[in-house]
Amino acid sequence: MKITVVGAGNVGATLAQRIADYELANECVLVDIVEGIPQGKALDMWESMPCIGSDCLITGSNSYEETANSDLVVITAGLARKPGMSRDDLLAKNVQIVKSVTEQVVKHSPNTMLLIVSNPLDAMVYTAYKVSGFEPHRVFGMAGVLDTARYRSFIALELGVSVKDIQALVLGGHGDTMVPLPRYTMVGGIPLPELLSQERIDNIVDRTRKGGGEIVGLLKTGSAYYATSAAVIEMVESIVRDKKRILPCAAYLNGEYGYKDMFMGVPVKLGSNGVEKIFELGLNNDEKAMLENSAKAVKGLMEEINL
Ligand code: NAI
Ligand code: 2OP
Repeated sequence: MKITVVGAGNVGATLAQRIADYELANECVLVDIVEGIPQGKALDMWESMPCIGSDCLITGSNSYEETANSDLVVITAGLARKPGMSRDDLLAKNVQIVKSVTEQVVKHSPNTMLLIVSNPLDAMVYTAYKVSGFEPHRVFGMAGVLDTARYRSFIALELGVSVKDIQALVLGGHGDTMVPLPRYTMVGGIPLPELLSQERIDNIVDRTRKGGGEIVGLLKTGSAYYATSAAVIEMVESIVRDKKRILPCAAYLNGEYGYKDMFMGVPVKLGSNGVEKIFELGLNNDEKAMLENSAKAVKGLMEEINL
């Protein structure tokens, strides 16, 4: 198993470290445009392997030859949000970055899978899909696992129970319009609405929707990366070990939930073939309206990139 991580910034470097620590690949290549950074970080990580007890070989590079024949490529390259930065600022710059990265990745690894993390997420996955020309099951994005992890953490904190016992789903695009689903949230098998008042649930949903912004507001110089990389790892592990976990991922919709030719967060079965199945949930009218609102926001961004 060879995994390439493009972007050796906060998310990419933390992710490469987790891949190596968990020995999810024999080989992990870290790529960035800044000279010395991927090489230095990779060497530092690799020198930690004797202490960790992992035989994952991590290398760093500024070019793509070293990434040849990767089984999985995770794209984290791009600008991260800073306070005062609009989504549109990010969109214009990151679409160019994701485009050029995808072209180079595909040239050297025509059979790889692409896991996109760069923001604005749903539009960036669409960019990678269009530029790569890959089948849709080989291109997907991480956002829902992070949004769900935040939602699960807040619920566990509120109830004073183990995070392990919270199972939940967040659908839709990765933004303030995301759709956490309390009806499908279970606490040790008990539906959430039986344990918390509507007002408390609403507060948790609101905090989840603004979860990314909360971290940006605190850090001031960038956005979340510990929970982000942990969330990507859940997806990577499911692919590498063919676990077939059901995770909320940005997947290509071809009529599911009434949407076509776009990527948005939905529950999928994730295994060694990438997105192996999309699960369609029964949604009530309110949930459908929220999903439609989220889909509109994603489509708005897709129109701007005009691929
Ligand atoms: P960062 O600024 O720490 O790292 C980004 C890295 O990308 C930098 O090292 C930069 O040199 C590199 N880069 C820029 N252009 C490149 C190119 N053409 N080729 C290769 N590398 C290039 O940012 P961070 O915190 O790592 O975030 C990365 C991306 O992930 C951002 O777009 C951020 O918004 C997104 N993100 C997405 C999340 C999600 O849930 N999908 C959660 C958190 C962050
Ligand atoms: C997050 O949700 C900014 O997308 C990033 O933290």
